[in-house]
This record gives sequence, structure tokens and C-alpha cells, in this order.
Amino acid sequence: MDRYLVFGHPVRHSKSPFIHTLFARQTQQELEYGLAEPVVDEFAQALRTFFDQGGKGCNVTVPFKEQAFTLVDRLSPRAKRAGAVNTIKLTDDGVLLGDNTDGAGLVADLKSHGVTLADSRILLLGAGGAARGALAPLLAELPSELVIANRTHTKAQQLAAEFCDLGPVTAQTYEQLAGPFDLVINSTSASLQGELPPLVPALIHTDIAIYDMMYGASDTAFISWAKQHGARQTMDGLGMLVEQAAEAFTVWRGIRPGTKQVLRELKRNLGVI
Ligand code: ATR
Repeated sequence: MDRYLVFGHPVRHSKSPFIHTLFARQTQQELEYGLAEPVVDEFAQALRTFFDQGGKGCNVTVPFKEQAFTLVDRLSPRAKRAGAVNTIKLTDDGVLLGDNTDGAGLVADLKSHGVTLADSRILLLGAGGAARGALAPLLAELPSELVIANRTHTKAQQLAAEFCDLGPVTAQTYEQLAGPFDLVINSTSASLQGELPPLVPALIHTDIAIYDMMYGASDTAFISWAKQHGARQTMDGLGMLVEQAAEAFTVWRGIRPGTKQVLRELKRNLGVI
């Protein structure tokens, strides 16, 4: 049977095996999908061993995405832009192809929630790997403006400079931000510590869409805060997780699974509904 897995550390709580097993059942593909948690300096060896032993493809998550970028034989254009690899496929001619489906997953999830990206003013919080992966797919949707704000302003400036050939992207400090924005995407890891990015409440209004790439069994700190200040449309990163997985599955199997039912099952599994 064709074997796939996700590399990460820690990875025990990953939802990827659950999601891909449902995709495989739905599309009647024969495959198995597992977990691998190598210690950080043994990732390269573990990756090699997996493919030497007949593995067909894998996902890569924290903290290995940047390392995976350097280990594959060939990069997709979107992985090259993202500077990170979250999906690897062994091609028929034995080449390890590195791809990145995170940004496509974000855009697909935003669209599935009915969020309009074309001609919109988008505020992207954070300038780490998650922000970098989102920038090209967001700019491809032709927003009127995309502003990056980050605690460490120089990192936002660097990102804006790197992506300004793709669209109207600028960097501003949190203090400089002036609304109205149509969409705020939180790519920071602040919610992991229950913290908030230093955004002024005046930027939140009833028609704004709020997206937090993090997710949990209850609202993230950022989503709770945005709701408190009047935001009516809030979304967490669970949908992005399922959509990036669907994109990876499509890369591997050449068949696109449906995501709605799988997202529902995942929410049930997490105790969200
Ligand atoms: P990832 O790959 O998930 O993006 P990362 O590269 O470590 O992770 O980046 C984390 C991002 O969250 C950074 O933009 C970080 O800001 P700094 O560049 O200033 O470190 C941001 N971040 C983390 N905790 C934060 C907090 N409490 N408030 C605001 N931003 C925060």
C-alpha cells in the first residue's frame, strides 16, 4: 500500500492522519498515512530513510519546513516563494519535489467562507514563516492593498520588499495602522501563549472579517478579542488545515477530495461541535 506521513516535532497531536484517512476513503484511494517525530538533527536522515523504504510522499510541519526546503531535489514555484516546504512528493522519475500548500489552503478557506479578496484592504499580522507562505497566494487575488504589521518592524519591511513585485504590499508598525481594513489575518503565534498582537480596538468594525491561522477547541485569544470589539465574521485556522491537506492530497494523488464533510468530522473529533 502507498505510504505517506507527516514529519514534525511534536507531531503526536497532528490531525493530518485523520484528515488524509478520510480523504482516502472518500476518493477510494488505497493508502496509509502515519506520523514521524524525529529529533531535530535527525530529520534529514529520517526523510531519506522514509523514501528509501518506498514512501510516496509526506507532509512537513513545525519545525522542519525550512529544512525540508533545502533537502528536496526540486521546488515548486510557490515553495520557492514561501521559502519553506510542507509537502513532498516522490515523482515517477525518482525526484523529490518540494511544494507548499499552506497559502493556497488559506485562500481556499477564506473563499469558502465567502470572503472577497479582490479589491479588498488586507492587514496581515506577523512576519514569520506563516506570513511568508501566505503572501504570494493573497497577492494573486488582487487586493487593493496588503499591509504587513509585525512586532519586529524590520521583519515586516523585509517581507514587503521581497514581495512588492507581486502586488501592492507595504509594511507599517502597529502604531501606524489606519483603517478601515476589510480583512485582518493573524499569522502570529501570539494566540499559542494566549497573547494578543498589539492591535488597537478602533480597527475592528462590524463588517470586518477576522482570520486567525491558529485554532483550538474554543475561540483563540485573538478571535475572542475581535468579537468583544464587534467583529461579526471570525474564522480560525481549522479550515486552512483541511484545505492545505486537500491541496497536498491533490499533488500526490491527482484527485481533489471534498473538504466540507471532512471539516465537519474534524470539528466533531475536536469537540468543537
Ligand atoms: P511561524 O512560522 O508560525 O510564522 P515564527 O516564524 O516564529 O512562526 O513567527 C512568529 C510570528 O509571530 C512573528 O512575526 C512574531 O513576531 P516577531 O517577529 O516580533 O518575533 C509574532 N509574534 C509572536 N508572539 C507575538 C506576540 N505576543 N505579539 C505579537 N507578535 C507576536
